[in-house]
Amino acid sequence: MMTEVQLKNDEDIETAVFIEAIKLKYGYNFSEYSRDHIKRRIQNRLVKSDCNNIMELAHRVIKDESLFEEILSDFSITVTEMFRDPAFFKYLRNEIVPVLESYPQIKIWHAGCSSGEEAYSMAIILKEAGLYDRCQIYATDFNRCVLSKAKAGIYDLESIKTYTHNYNLSGGIYSFSDYYIAKYKHAILDSDLKRHIVFAEHNLVTDGSFGEMNLIMCRNVLIYFEKSLQNKVNHLFVNSLLKGGYLFLGSKETLAHSAVENHFETVSEAFKVYRHHGQIIMGNGEKSC
Ligand SMILES: C[S@@+](CC[C@H](N)C(=O)[O-])C[C@H]1O[C@@H](n2cnc3c(N)ncnc32)[C@H](O)[C@@H]1O
Repeated sequence: MMTEVQLKNDEDIETAVFIEAIKLKYGYNFSEYSRDHIKRRIQNRLVKSDCNNIMELAHRVIKDESLFEEILSDFSITVTEMFRDPAFFKYLRNEIVPVLESYPQIKIWHAGCSSGEEAYSMAIILKEAGLYDRCQIYATDFNRCVLSKAKAGIYDLESIKTYTHNYNLSGGIYSFSDYYIAKYKHAILDSDLKRHIVFAEHNLVTDGSFGEMNLIMCRNVLIYFEKSLQNKVNHLFVNSLLKGGYLFLGSKETLAHSAVENHFETVSEAFKVYRHHGQIIMGNGEKSC
C-alpha cells in the first residue's frame, strides 16, 4: 500500500517535470490540462518509445523537436467529423441560422478546429442558407499538423461515408457528393468552401482575443482542460464575442456554474448554445440593451 502511494506521488512529480520541460523548451503550457489525460498520453507514448521512464522521455523530448511534435499530437486529441453530432447541426440550421440572416456581416471563430471538418460543415450550412458571401470564418488550432490537413481540405473516402450520413441527418438539402470530387482513395472538397475560411495557428492557453465575433464554436476542446483553464478560455471568449454573439460548446461541456455564467443567457443547455447578453447588436449594426 505504502509503495503504491509513493509510486503515485513519483509519477505526479515526474509528470510535472515533463510538462515544465516542454514549456521551457517549446513554450507550450500543458500545466492546466486534465492531469489524468496528460498522464494517460505520456504512458501511451512510453509504450511506443524505447524510453524506460518519464524522465528519460523528458530528456529525449528537449533534444528532439520531431519527438515534441509527436507528443503535441498525443496531447491534442484531434478526433473530429463533418457534421459531428448531426442533431446539433440541425438545431444550428433551424434555430440559429435564421437569426444570423439579419446580420449584414457574420464573423465566426472555430477554436480548436482540428483538421477542418467542423469549419467546412459550417461553410456548407451557410452556403445552403444563402449567407456564405456575408461571412468570414476563422478556424484555428495550436497543432500545425492538423491545420495543414484542414487547409488542404482532402479527406479519406472512408470517412466520407460517415460525413454523408451526418450531413443527411443534419438536414442537408442537397447531395453531399456535390461538395467534393473523389480521386483515388480521397475526397477533395470543393475549393469554393475555402473562399471565406482563414485557417490559422492560435493557442487558447497563450494567445489573445481573436476580434469581435458573432459566433464562436469551441466544441470538444475544453473537456481536456482543468476548471481553472476552462475559466480563462471562457473569459477569452467573452472578450472575443460581440454582445448578442453565440458560443457553442461540445455535448459534454457547459457554461453552467462557470465563472462567466452570468455573462450569458442559456439558449439551449441540450445543445450547449449560449448567448452573450447585454447590448445586442441588431441586424442594421445598431446597438440596443
Ligand atoms: C477533439 S478536437 C475537436 C475538433 C472539433 N472542434 C470537433 O468538435 O470535432 C480538439 C482540438 O483542440 C485542439 N486544441 C487542444 N488544445 C488547444 C489549445 N491550447 N489551443 C488551440 N487548440 C487546442 C486540438 O489540437 C484538437 O485539434
